[in-house]
Amino acid sequence: MEDIENIAKKIVEDGKGILAADESTNTIKKRFDSINVVSTENTRCQYREILFSSKNISQFISGVILFEETFFQKNKQGKPLTEILENVNCFSGIKVDQGLEQFQDSPDESFTKGIETLNERLKLFVENGAKFTKWRAVINIAENIPTIECIKKNAELLAEYALISQKNNLVPIVEPEVIMEGKHNLKKCYEITKKTLQEVFNCLKNKNINLRGMLVKPNTIVPGNESGEKLDIKKSAVKTLQCLKETVPREVPGILFLSGGLSSLNATMILNEINKLEKTPWKLSFSYGRALQEHALKEWIGKNENKGTTQKIFLHRAKMNSMACLGKWEKSLEQDM
Ligand code: G3H
Repeated sequence: MEDIENIAKKIVEDGKGILAADESTNTIKKRFDSINVVSTENTRCQYREILFSSKNISQFISGVILFEETFFQKNKQGKPLTEILENVNCFSGIKVDQGLEQFQDSPDESFTKGIETLNERLKLFVENGAKFTKWRAVINIAENIPTIECIKKNAELLAEYALISQKNNLVPIVEPEVIMEGKHNLKKCYEITKKTLQEVFNCLKNKNINLRGMLVKPNTIVPGNESGEKLDIKKSAVKTLQCLKETVPREVPGILFLSGGLSSLNATMILNEINKLEKTPWKLSFSYGRALQEHALKEWIGKNENKGTTQKIFLHRAKMNSMACLGKWEKSLEQDM
């Protein structure tokens, strides 16, 4: 059995990142609605198979986060989608949280569900080849929130999740997402993200989590989308790196950002800019959902005859982000498709 430290290191090998294809049934329906495709088990399987079978995907993508349905899905020829990934040396990961529930009597705060049954649920994924897991906590910023109680509750759950994952020989991807929607400015995003990451790493340390056998998936530091403050890529990169240096221990092998609603290009540019700043103890990579799939989804529009061009567009985005992991992305590369 491969050791979790090795798997974590391989996930963030130079120039590689993660495809987050773990949209829940509700979320993928919203994505499909935007291209007028009916979301069924079949269409979801078709779409994801197109992405996973893109030629040489593993040049840029080391692992894919799957939703439970996809994890056990087979293509038309009866081949499990996880086998398609395994055949090209891409790790299969699984989203194991069960969504959000309101936190106490605070209507705009939440905590993540699913911890009670987690240990039991992991067995089946391990038996079927999962190598890593993901758990997402959501922190909203608005007037008087987030409360410290909510941050602490989510941090404790993330640490408990990480412990259970590691006990099952799975690499936990710890995702505390400070949400971009809101009127808050860049400074506020930095403050809340820093506080959140501090609490998360306190809890991880209290539970003696093996920091070398885990990965963290945070947001980048950006102004809220209703703040009126213009996104400044360089400023965001500097603040993101500052925040990470203040909170993430050097033993953690990699930090994989979420895209959180940033445009595909902005997500690539921020990642690239951060990687240009200085040498860091951890690898800085991507674990993007929308920022990797947005353009591919629009090309596909539910038609199998668009498979080739969909894959080409998807691979291009993956390659651009791979270059950004190395700090070698340039605008001119966007044209070479
Ligand atoms: O949990 C969030 C997803 O794994 C990442 O999705 O890049 O669209 O924010 P996103």
